[in-house]
Amino acid sequence: MDRIGVLTSGGDAPGMNAAIRAVTRAAIAKGYEVVGFLRGYNGLLNNKYMSLSARDVSDIIHRGGTILYTARCLEFKEWDNVVKGKENCDDLFLKGLVVIGGDGSFRGALDLTKAGLPCIGIPGTIDNDIGCTDYTIGYDTAMNTAMEMVDKIRDTAQSHDRCSVIEVMGNKAGWIALNVGTAVGAMAIVTMEAEYNIDEIVGKIKATQATGKQHFIIVVSEGVAAKIDGGSDYIAKQITQKTGIESRATVLGHVQRGGNPTLRDRLVATEMGYYAVDLLDKGIGQRVVGQKDGKVCDFGIVDALQMTKPFDMNLYRIADEISL
Ligand code: F6P
Repeated sequence: MDRIGVLTSGGDAPGMNAAIRAVTRAAIAKGYEVVGFLRGYNGLLNNKYMSLSARDVSDIIHRGGTILYTARCLEFKEWDNVVKGKENCDDLFLKGLVVIGGDGSFRGALDLTKAGLPCIGIPGTIDNDIGCTDYTIGYDTAMNTAMEMVDKIRDTAQSHDRCSVIEVMGNKAGWIALNVGTAVGAMAIVTMEAEYNIDEIVGKIKATQATGKQHFIIVVSEGVAAKIDGGSDYIAKQITQKTGIESRATVLGHVQRGGNPTLRDRLVATEMGYYAVDLLDKGIGQRVVGQKDGKVCDFGIVDALQMTKPFDMNLYRIADEISL
């Protein structure tokens, strides 16, 4: 019997399990057996896999993490290993493979397709930094988690009349910072897409302090903090020095990658998982599934890897203008 393979690769994201479930069940519904490779491309290279039945993916739609584990696999960048991976897939009678992950994972899927195995990518990353799609699985859950954390930090910032500098994830893109910063009503949102100027932030803090504001939230994206010696702590120290307001930095970190996926993440994961299997079933490979204007769609992997997503400067300006 023909089989469909599935793996999760790169950083995990809430909703990956919902995607694995949808891929598995869609494939079974269409008459395939399903193989789940463990720890991304490592499982494919080293024949570490599990067969997935409809029951094996019961009770996972609501769980964070990935039952298939995940990893970044540098060896898979070497062509000889891609060929070995393809041979392993042939031995398993794989008709195609669904890869759930980010841009790096899609490069592996492209190489495997070139080696002769049709592959479909599904965007799974909390960062929403994939050009071809408006939305990536895990993004909504991560933002809601970060928002809840900032709400809690705000309570203590308020009690102490402090400024809280909160670093959120997003190494190459500031989407989490922008949306979370807007949703918590931050005084300033610091992302790599917009120019960062500490004196402007200090100026705003002082101006609003003069109108009675006593505590302040600054949301910083990881990508900016990583480029500053001392990171978010340094930003907090500068604010203390320049304003006299006691400031604290909090790096939210991996809490943003865990937890039960939100409704939106479960829904998108389910739609995309089904769509990916449908493409493979029709004999179509070398595609990345995306979401545009609320509709699931697909793009060639080569094109998808070249696409860029313009930052929402309009939202950034709105948030900035009303942080009075
Ligand atoms: O790509 C998702 C992401 O969470 C980034 O925001 C972050 O920079 C990176 O992964 C962290 O990766 P790791 O878990 O390997 O430290």
